[in-house]
Amino acid sequence: MSKQRILSGVQPTGNLHLGNYIGAIRNWVEGQNQYENYFCVVDLHAITVPHNPATLAADSYTIAALYLACGIDLTYSTIFVQSHISAHSELAWLLNCITPLNWLQDMIQFKEKAVKQGENVGTGLLDYPVLMAADILLYQADKVPVGEDQKQHLELTRDIAVRLNHQFGNGQTILKLPEPLIRKEGARVMSLTDGTKKMSKSDPSELSRINLLDPKEAIAKKIKRCKTDPVRGLEFDNPERPECHNLLTLYMLLSGKSKSDVAAECIDMGWGQFKPLLTETVIQALQPIQEKYDRIMASKGYLESVLREGRQKAEAIANQTLAEVKAALGYSQPL
Ligand code: TYM
Repeated sequence: MSKQRILSGVQPTGNLHLGNYIGAIRNWVEGQNQYENYFCVVDLHAITVPHNPATLAADSYTIAALYLACGIDLTYSTIFVQSHISAHSELAWLLNCITPLNWLQDMIQFKEKAVKQGENVGTGLLDYPVLMAADILLYQADKVPVGEDQKQHLELTRDIAVRLNHQFGNGQTILKLPEPLIRKEGARVMSLTDGTKKMSKSDPSELSRINLLDPKEAIAKKIKRCKTDPVRGLEFDNPERPECHNLLTLYMLLSGKSKSDVAAECIDMGWGQFKPLLTETVIQALQPIQEKYDRIMASKGYLESVLREGRQKAEAIANQTLAEVKAALGYSQPL
């Protein structure tokens, strides 16, 4: 039996942080040998908010190198850049024309991001989830590993696929319905400065997140200054102590210890004892990623060849699905 297919992606907007790593990329790495995997750098999504053209291409390379540095293995996985395959934009247009406007206006992430843009909300921001649906549906993905914040976008993707199949499938399934793959632990890593907000690239405070490429000193400083509470003894799952739950969860996931072991280890600890422990654990977890990243970036030719081969492999699948959708919609073959 052939393996199930996975597709996922990260935007090249600034650095990747621990939320992206724990919520998404680490899970891609852990499960990759069971699946046929496609991981893209979603640079078309990156321009749905104001972006810097001078750094976009370099940022996309950084993300692709980080995928490899985090352990994506080309034996099982294909890495490519979204904008290198024009089928993504083309399918997004076709899906736009069958997606009701009010489905998009209901998206939580659109509402949150639109508030930040004020008068300048672009159509692309509203349309972001349709492009994401195109990314997934083009590859007929079975599963999409993401953080909790993407659940609604996955539901929309399924709704769009159902609608297209129903309206144009003539009883056949043209687009496969994908399942989200969201882990229970770490699906929502919270900000270091406010345990009720998720860790995010767009938070204006650098102190709110730990980036995968942060030097040791920056990691130590951010953990030293992170928000805690005046209670002694650390615990999971107390809704009154969101920061405590978040920091213990980070420690648990990055140390590889079980929840019960961490709970027992930290039950009598104060923050003065826990923070250095967490700092050391984060530094230890990120060090091999940073070293591998430096090695990959030193060989630009290698990274280019990975992305070239990735594009060729991914494009063959994407073009096939696009052709099937166009045929179902009634388009003529290009002459
Ligand atoms: P992006 O770049 O905003 O996020 C990339 C991944 O990181 C996860 N994530 C988090 N997980 C846990 N805690 C957090 N604080 C946290 N912040 C971010 C996100 O859930 C995501 O999995 N829309 C996607 C990009 C995308 C995509 C796709 C994903 C475009 N097309 C197709 C899957 C399939 C996004 O959120 O990117």
